[in-house]
Amino acid sequence: MAAAAARVVALACVLSLVLSAQAEAPYRFFDWEVTYGDINPLGGVPQQGILINGQFPGPEVDCQTNDNLVINVRNRLPEPFLLSWNGIQQRKNSWQDGVSGTNCPIPPGQNYTYHMQAKDQIGSFFYFPSLAFHKAAGGFGAIRINSRPRIPVPFPPPADEFTVLIGDWYNTTHKALQAMLDDGKLLPSPDAILINGKGPGRANFTVEQGKTYRLRISNVGLRSTLNFMIQDHNVTLVEVEGTHTVQNTYTSLDVHAGQSLSVLFTADRPARSYHIAVSSRFTNQTLNSTAVLRYAGSTGPVSGPLRAGNQSDVDFSLNQARSIRTNLTASGPRPNPQGSYHYGSINVSRTIRLANSAGQVGGKPRYGVNGVSYVDADTPLKLADYYNISGVFRMDGIPDAPAATHSGTQNGTGADAALKNQTAVMDSDHRSFVEVVFENSEDSVQSWHLDGYSVFVVGMDKGAWSEESRKGYNLVDAVTRCTVEGVSKRVDGDLHRAGQRGDVEREVGGLGAQVPGPAVLPPGVHADALRPRRAPRADQRDPLRPRYQQEPPAILSVVSSRWQGKIQLYQSIVWCASRTVEDLVWLVTG
Ligand SMILES: *[C@@H]1O[C@H](CO)[C@@H](O)[C@H](O)[C@H]1NC(C)=O
Ligand SMILES: *[C@@H]1O[C@H](CO)[C@@H](O)[C@H](O)[C@H]1NC(C)=O
Ligand SMILES: *[C@@H]1O[C@H](CO)[C@@H](O)[C@H](O)[C@H]1NC(C)=O
Ligand SMILES: *[C@@H]1O[C@H](CO)[C@@H](O)[C@H](O)[C@H]1NC(C)=O
Ligand SMILES: *[C@@H]1O[C@H](CO)[C@@H](O)[C@H](O)[C@H]1NC(C)=O
Ligand SMILES: *[C@@H]1O[C@H](CO)[C@@H](O)[C@H](O)[C@H]1NC(C)=O
Ligand SMILES: *[C@@H]1O[C@H](CO)[C@@H](O)[C@H](O)[C@H]1NC(C)=O
Ligand SMILES: *[C@@H]1O[C@H](CO)[C@@H](O)[C@H](O)[C@H]1NC(C)=O
Ligand SMILES: *[C@@H]1O[C@H](CO)[C@@H](O)[C@H](O)[C@H]1NC(C)=O
Ligand SMILES: *[C@@H]1O[C@H](CO)[C@@H](O)[C@H](O)[C@H]1NC(C)=O
Ligand SMILES: *[C@@H]1O[C@H](CO)[C@@H](O)[C@H](O)[C@H]1NC(C)=O
Ligand SMILES: *[C@@H]1O[C@H](CO)[C@@H](O)[C@H](O)[C@H]1NC(C)=O
Repeated sequence: MAAAAARVVALACVLSLVLSAQAEAPYRFFDWEVTYGDINPLGGVPQQGILINGQFPGPEVDCQTNDNLVINVRNRLPEPFLLSWNGIQQRKNSWQDGVSGTNCPIPPGQNYTYHMQAKDQIGSFFYFPSLAFHKAAGGFGAIRINSRPRIPVPFPPPADEFTVLIGDWYNTTHKALQAMLDDGKLLPSPDAILINGKGPGRANFTVEQGKTYRLRISNVGLRSTLNFMIQDHNVTLVEVEGTHTVQNTYTSLDVHAGQSLSVLFTADRPARSYHIAVSSRFTNQTLNSTAVLRYAGSTGPVSGPLRAGNQSDVDFSLNQARSIRTNLTASGPRPNPQGSYHYGSINVSRTIRLANSAGQVGGKPRYGVNGVSYVDADTPLKLADYYNISGVFRMDGIPDAPAATHSGTQNGTGADAALKNQTAVMDSDHRSFVEVVFENSEDSVQSWHLDGYSVFVVGMDKGAWSEESRKGYNLVDAVTRCTVEGVSKRVDGDLHRAGQRGDVEREVGGLGAQVPGPAVLPPGVHADALRPRRAPRADQRDPLRPRYQQEPPAILSVVSSRWQGKIQLYQSIVWCASRTVEDLVWLVTG
């Protein structure tokens, strides 16, 4: 009870702070046009990319804690389109998150205006298209949430900040890739790694000797874990997905698909040019890419050997992940210390173990989670729930723990075990605390992303998870993340598991694997038992939300499946309120 009481106090503080801040929180307006256009990141044959306002990558969203973001997205592609905001905590706003299958896409030729608030957040994130494998063609860009001026940041202001979007890249069209997955084939090795949309050796950054810079790095790629390093320079980690970290120094850092972090480095070496090297890890074929770090005023080409990272060292990766910790005394988005919320004393009421496995559905290879291969519903789940449309999704289709045949703890990996295909949703109690254990017995690194929310990543290890594993949890200064990795078993012949403890008190978004495989990905978790929330305050109401104003919907805190899956009721209503359910189905499938 003590912790529960403390939690209430903490929440009350947050609320008053947010309330007082909200009156003055500025609005930032963006007007984006999404088109196809030629891009040529590798310098070979131009390929079709997705541009936002003519740019690849798309424009940056640069804002400050509590800013209101109003982003009008005009879809000029000949097909439906949707953008998702990786890491933005859509508090009581989950219908703005923009993910596949769960809300209405923006139809071709039409527009939709996202309304979000970077409420009580700082940090480095990114946005990307969530439908139809569009991400493989572009449409992504950086999101930067700066601290408010009066909130102390635990390091001196850097001379400048650079966005570094790294990601694997295919020179095949996204449609060809999507067709492969639909056919049940694995994706081939990527063709290259891009840095800010440019192929090897094509991006450059200029610094002045003696100054310190911040790099905000996000892995915007489809699947590859990427290792980042700067030749002859170490980097200091300062922020991970909105948490100020203990400032450890690293020679190189692993950034898994969907993850973001910030580092500082000082240009304190002899004035010349250096390689920024990004290489894939835990893949059959190592891909390398470089950008140029040029000291202003220096001449001459970049030179010298690149340090070779060990591409298959799981222990290196694990130890590095475990070394990332919260600086408990530093401020986060608020002036009080990040360590003032004692997540370690939470009594967890439920443990959910999610294990992925491969199997067959209708004769095609599919992945499943706890034996269920998720099927996208024609009707958005939140909408189905709001209008009480039965038969769209199935509650309790997914067990809290995998059957032994799917868990990978048996001999073999459970690869041949049968999968059910369902639009499955898990339910959960409002304001309950759950522990989620991700088990990866597949051959590839899996990234799991929790949409619109983040969790404390309390543990990570090889081998089987058991209740004993809890003794190894970090219950003091773990970081909260929205995306967590599970290294594959292939590289060390063992299973890798990540234990997580998170609180699902706020509405939860979609939980899904970030790395695409043949169809499917994981199940829905329905984290709020249909309880209507309070009506929004007057200042939260705006003309785009007429319905919400009159009749607050039961926000479902749901988690759907597909990577990045998330259920958004409200957006659906904006699009579809005046339409019949048949229209709706058309909108979604069309
Ligand atoms: C957790 O549960 C234990 C045993 O039921 C109880 O003694 C303790 O007070 C609880 N802690 C919190 C923070 O509720
Ligand atoms: C579409 O864009 C226009 C301005 O170009 C704007 O007035 C309108 O509200 C937008 N519609 C939606 C649904 O966002
Ligand atoms: C943590 O943050 C505090 C407050 O800003 C700072 O003084 C301290 O150096 C930081 N500690 C580490 C280990 O990064
Ligand atoms: C695509 O990438 C492959 C390497 O994987 C390369 O051989 C091929 O030339 C590239 N094609 C184009 C059009 O750039
Ligand atoms: C560095 O990149 C900029 C664009 O970001 C480009 O205009 C410039 O030509 C590049 N410089 C070199 C030396 O490659
Ligand atoms: C980077 O860190 C390593 C290990 O701490 C150290 O050996 C090396 O000298 C450092 N390099 C630079 C350029 O500071
Ligand atoms: C990687 O190599 C293994 C063993 O050679 C093979 O089974 C697997 O299919 C390969 N994966 C990819 C993505 O090529
Ligand atoms: C990538 O770099 C590593 C380490 O320097 C090297 O071993 C590997 O051969 C390189 N791979 C390619 C494809 O260039
Ligand atoms: C890479 O790491 C693996 C696993 O730790 C180890 O077995 C191997 O010897 C390392 N290779 C090199 C070149 O250091
Ligand atoms: C499950 O797969 C079977 C076989 O392909 C198919 O007939 C059935 O319609 C699928 N069910 C769902 C809910 O998609
Ligand atoms: C929703 O539909 C079910 C039957 O499908 C019914 O039992 C239930 O009462 C309905 N709930 C509401 C709020 O209309
Ligand atoms: C795993 O295989 C070993 C040896 O083949 C066997 O003794 C054991 O019973 C198997 N375990 C399970 C859980 O199937």
